[in-house]
Amino acid sequence: TVPAIRARKPDMRPVAEPIVMLTAYTARMAQILDPHCDMLLVGDSLAQVIYGLPSTLPVSLDMMAAHGAAVVRGSWHSVVVIDMPFGSYEASPEQAFAAAARLLKESGAAAVKLEGGEAMAPTVAFLAARGIPVVGHVGLTPQAVNALGGYGARGREPAEEAKILADARAIAEAGCFALVVEGVMEPLAVAITGAVPCPVIGIGASAACDGQVLVIDDMLGMFERTARFVKRYDEFAGRIDAAAARYAAEVRARAFPETAHIYAPKP
Ligand code: KIV
Ligand code: NA
Repeated sequence: TVPAIRARKPDMRPVAEPIVMLTAYTARMAQILDPHCDMLLVGDSLAQVIYGLPSTLPVSLDMMAAHGAAVVRGSWHSVVVIDMPFGSYEASPEQAFAAAARLLKESGAAAVKLEGGEAMAPTVAFLAARGIPVVGHVGLTPQAVNALGGYGARGREPAEEAKILADARAIAEAGCFALVVEGVMEPLAVAITGAVPCPVIGIGASAACDGQVLVIDDMLGMFERTARFVKRYDEFAGRIDAAAARYAAEVRARAFPETAHIYAPKP
């Protein structure tokens, strides 16, 4: 549950055991990942991962609600968190509440995640006060790619470092129950983890964070190129390619289907 995740970091003390989070977009993948995770994130990274879009900006509430519902159907143990898509929450706390309520009602998920710092603090407080648990997301915030000018690591300059730390404090203060810190210089990730009371989940951040998250397709090796912070735990793209090649060769050679795969009438 959300309170159980929050309680993993009591009184600013570091978590006893880091929190495990992965993204999931489909029911079957959620079923496989759920026993291993504390939280599953239905990330708006589904833009690139599932839909082949160039950024997360085109993602709609309908897409997030549909994939969120699929992931909830496939999980029974992990806290399911759904990303609020770009354009669905930034205008006002009221806009954010309507969008978040829709996501939770249509999916059955437990919480939403939104990107942003000080400017989003009133929105985080508004949602939290109305029964919607919120995960924050600071540092490299992909929905701001146009403003940031790319996906490079954040917090290299002292001014930007101070701004990101202030952002993290502001939304933690506003009441997020966990905070994703993405793509920042390692000392900044350590500083944020020590500065905010809620669990800090790192991605391209630090091993000292209170937990880690990765995009499932990245860590499975589904893409040729991935960010520096991705560890590839498998090479799925190559394995799928090899399986498809074997299938294609067997079909062309009439070697598939074999007797075991056909419905033969009884003699
Ligand atoms: O959309 C996503 O997958 C995310 C994680 C990388 C934190 O926001
Ligand atoms: Na995201």
